[in-house]
Amino acid sequence: MPKKTIHQLDVDGRRVFIRVDFNVPIRDGIIADDTRIRAALPTLTYALEHGATVVLGSHLGRPKGTVNQAFTLRPVATRLAELLGRGVVLATDAVGDAVAAAVSAAGPGGVVLLENLRFHPGEEANDPAFAEALAAPADCYVNDAFGSAHRAHASTTGIVHHLPDAAAGLLMAAELRHLGALLESPPRPFVAILGGAKVSGKLEVIDNLLGQVDTLLVGGAMAYTFFKARGLPVGRSLVEAALVDATRTIERDAGGRGVRLELPSDHVVTDRLEVGAAHETLAVEDPSIGDRLGVDIGPATIARYAAVIADARTIVWNGPMGVFEIDAFAPGTVAIAKAVAASAAISIVGGGDSVAAIGRAGVGDRITHISTGGGASLEFLGGRRLPGVEALPDVVEGRC
Ligand code: 3PG
Repeated sequence: MPKKTIHQLDVDGRRVFIRVDFNVPIRDGIIADDTRIRAALPTLTYALEHGATVVLGSHLGRPKGTVNQAFTLRPVATRLAELLGRGVVLATDAVGDAVAAAVSAAGPGGVVLLENLRFHPGEEANDPAFAEALAAPADCYVNDAFGSAHRAHASTTGIVHHLPDAAAGLLMAAELRHLGALLESPPRPFVAILGGAKVSGKLEVIDNLLGQVDTLLVGGAMAYTFFKARGLPVGRSLVEAALVDATRTIERDAGGRGVRLELPSDHVVTDRLEVGAAHETLAVEDPSIGDRLGVDIGPATIARYAAVIADARTIVWNGPMGVFEIDAFAPGTVAIAKAVAASAAISIVGGGDSVAAIGRAGVGDRITHISTGGGASLEFLGGRRLPGVEALPDVVEGRC
């Protein structure tokens, strides 16, 4: 059932709480990629053009329920003001009197960005009292944070009990349209490419994806937990010891469901994660890795994965193939980005690092849909219902 969108919500002259996902990479106070902020602009502009007072809530990073200025949304407020061409007030907190005062001072056409929601433990705990406090300064609710829709937090689910006059934002609606169409009948072969550091946090996603895809290509540091389970030499590569057994289950399940699960056959190894560090390519069985660590997939793996990608008709990619922030360890990730772009398949890329790799390879215009959600897009494509979406009211027939 499609969800009601902001177009079907009366926002005129009202105070609208808009949950956005401004969880952007920030280095030394500078926003390294503002894609997620730009992606929210259509919804914000729509609300402002209708004379709404906009109250924005977002998390940034994982400050674990304590106030930590390393995770302040201040740089985001500055960037948002530039993009909107109007003032943005950063409230000193996410709830309380200071927020109420900032919202009433802002008035229609004003924008108040709440300070990092995750400075409060009640956000991730989905604490009803915190949800109620978040809702207090608003009349209605819009969720435009597709990237956080897989989290059942106070600002994504609990708040709707207090602001039932609610709807999806335009970014949320667009993501659901693109990804939902794909989920209904993905052209086959359907290939998922998973990389990045960790198997943990992706276990459920992998399990769900195995029910959807024909082939799963694994790269990045997460491959080393699989290697460990196979008894291959891993040196100092990142291995999640507690998940070695889980990877065996994944391999067994893939086999049982007729899904081809591919792991790298060669890799680039180095003794340190530094620009200029010596490195070489080895077969993954080669014990001469010693106490070095794997940092990229090798040329044989690139060629094998590229061939699978070329034959695919649907591709979902999340997570880099190596430590691509260092040029010498980027070729695997960049080659995969180019292979995905060159393929005639429907392609969905999500997750900050893979999206950055697409940008670095200069092939963004050849990807069918670049999702602002990493975990959220994977969970959705794995067939899971997202709590942040489920919490929103369904569209009312006859209204548009
Ligand atoms: C993301 O970047 O995937 C979202 O903002 C969710 O962040 P989280 O994984 O810290 O909940």
